[in-house]
Amino acid sequence: MTDTTDYAREYADALRDPEGYWQRIAQRIDWMQPPTQIRDVSFHADDFRIRWYADGVLNASVNCLDRHLPARGDRTALIFEPDDPNGEARHVTYRELHARTCRLANALRNLGVRKGDRITIYLPMIVDAVVAMLACARIGAIHSVVFGGFAPQSIADRIADCRSKLIITADEGMRGGKRIGLKANVDAALALPGTNSVETVLVVRHTGAAVAMQMPRDRWVDAVVAGQPDTCDPEPMNAEDPLFILYTSGSTGKPKGVLHTTGGYMVFASFTHERVFDLREDDIYWCTADVGWITGHSYIVYGPLANGATAVVFEGVPNHPDHSRFWRVIDKHQVTIFYTAPTAIRALMREGDAPVRAASRKSLRLLGTVGEPINPEAWRWYHDVVGDARCPVVDTWWQTETGGILIAPPIGMEAKPGSAMKPFFGVRPALVDADGKELQGEAAGNLVLKDSWPGQMRTVYGDHARFIDTYFRAYPGLYFTGDGCRRDADGDYWITGRVDDVINVSGHRIGTAEVESALVSHAKVAEAAVVGFPHDIKGQGIYAYVTLVAGQAESDALRAELIAHVRHEIGPIATPDHLQWAPGLPKTRSGKIMRRILRKIAEDAPDQLGDTSTLADPSVVDSLVRNRRGA
Ligand code: PRX
Repeated sequence: MTDTTDYAREYADALRDPEGYWQRIAQRIDWMQPPTQIRDVSFHADDFRIRWYADGVLNASVNCLDRHLPARGDRTALIFEPDDPNGEARHVTYRELHARTCRLANALRNLGVRKGDRITIYLPMIVDAVVAMLACARIGAIHSVVFGGFAPQSIADRIADCRSKLIITADEGMRGGKRIGLKANVDAALALPGTNSVETVLVVRHTGAAVAMQMPRDRWVDAVVAGQPDTCDPEPMNAEDPLFILYTSGSTGKPKGVLHTTGGYMVFASFTHERVFDLREDDIYWCTADVGWITGHSYIVYGPLANGATAVVFEGVPNHPDHSRFWRVIDKHQVTIFYTAPTAIRALMREGDAPVRAASRKSLRLLGTVGEPINPEAWRWYHDVVGDARCPVVDTWWQTETGGILIAPPIGMEAKPGSAMKPFFGVRPALVDADGKELQGEAAGNLVLKDSWPGQMRTVYGDHARFIDTYFRAYPGLYFTGDGCRRDADGDYWITGRVDDVINVSGHRIGTAEVESALVSHAKVAEAAVVGFPHDIKGQGIYAYVTLVAGQAESDALRAELIAHVRHEIGPIATPDHLQWAPGLPKTRSGKIMRRILRKIAEDAPDQLGDTSTLADPSVVDSLVRNRRGA
């Protein structure tokens, strides 16, 4: 996207002839057999299909590694920046990354892993995490990366859902100077029901801590890769063969396994990475996400490596050892493109400009954000202070389900603080009202997509009906994003946030149902309802209403115990920010909890409760309002 008219022309081209456009774009990656069938799509439930490049054959790891070896094998693929700023930063070349990937891939094959097997990866932000993903891709195993902040129960649920055969973890992780017992969490997960599919646990030696090894199940990675050849025949993969599963929260039930396939995903991740970030040959690119999220998959691993870029892998956190860490790392590695989340920007903005000014940031050329709506104030600070008012800011809207960026400001177009602006090439957003009627021009409504793009998820692992029900039933023939959105008179899009029961906490999706089920799994809890509320730093916080079992006394100690219980069941990211005792919950006469009312109370807007006359017992509302957080 070089200038505004170029954007408009290319956007129109892609819509006029999607087949021709996406066939051309597919040539950016290496195919063992180039596709002749480009797209085959229907969003209608009775005739449903999403297939891209269906007769193409390729291997994702070959695209990320082998094809760079002849001309740029000695170029740095990854720069590892450890948690400890005094630790050793390491440059890993494409040649070295290739050799390490092949050795692990050979070891996995020796351990009996075959195409289609599921492998769970539970690692910190270290180079081994990238190696593990690529080694799976090399042999056609489907990886399921579980964020290192998830607790044993969450790991176990994800293992059980996809019946993983093998887990790759580390002795410990390091974050902000604190050790995280990853292997211990895996041990605890494997003691839980439903995890007996796991035959082998491979352990990366990272901090060197002593960990319990349970033979013959547990093996050190350095031991199994020792003596393995540093080449490995890549598994030929059909474009529609699965590449990975990534679990994400929805409005109901347990997290769902979002499944991405190989061909379309690789084309879309690499293409969007190049065009949205205006990638150039000498860029040093840094995305601060974790590989446990989709942003890490598409824009630390698959997109940048397929493009032969140099990417920073950062193990640490923005506020350790102080609030200048991001900016010092930018100077240290001469980062040119920096991609982070609004929550990090807001947290750092609160510390003032001095920590930013402590670093020069001269190398920076472009800034990006992702994960949640960015408020204009934070956008301006990012642009004016971090970017010294000379770097464009790209606010990128997308989802785990979309595989890559769908809405972002075209390079060269004047940005509007807080707007993700224009659809990417080939992407057809629309706004609909509650009845599914498409809204034209300047409007606000629910954001849908009218047609497919190559990086779209293909199914919910093991539950195709849930895939169709979740995304294609609300508005037949359209993909429903779950987001609310406004379009202004210039046709620019402004995402306003989730309209379903998903809370976006610091850019991480948490389903209200997950937190509720963690709460009610505590013996003293009879019932729980969870909603989001506006939070200065996190975007949204978690607000829990809890009704205790009869005879149990409310106390601050019990409140702390319940909050700790959620943390223990799901992980720190799901920790409720506020827990209010609810002698009763507002329910309709048919027993449905009226979340709209609970949201307004949590927002401290008791004058906007709306009609409460349909409640079975309207009096419960008065007591909730009286005891609300803001009261
Ligand atoms: O609500 C939108 C919000 O994050 C959701 C997707 O979350 P997840 O699947 O975890 O992926 C996050 C990283 C791609 C969306 O439904 N979201 C993401 N990016 C933006 C955003 N909201 C507003 N502006 C964005 N740029």
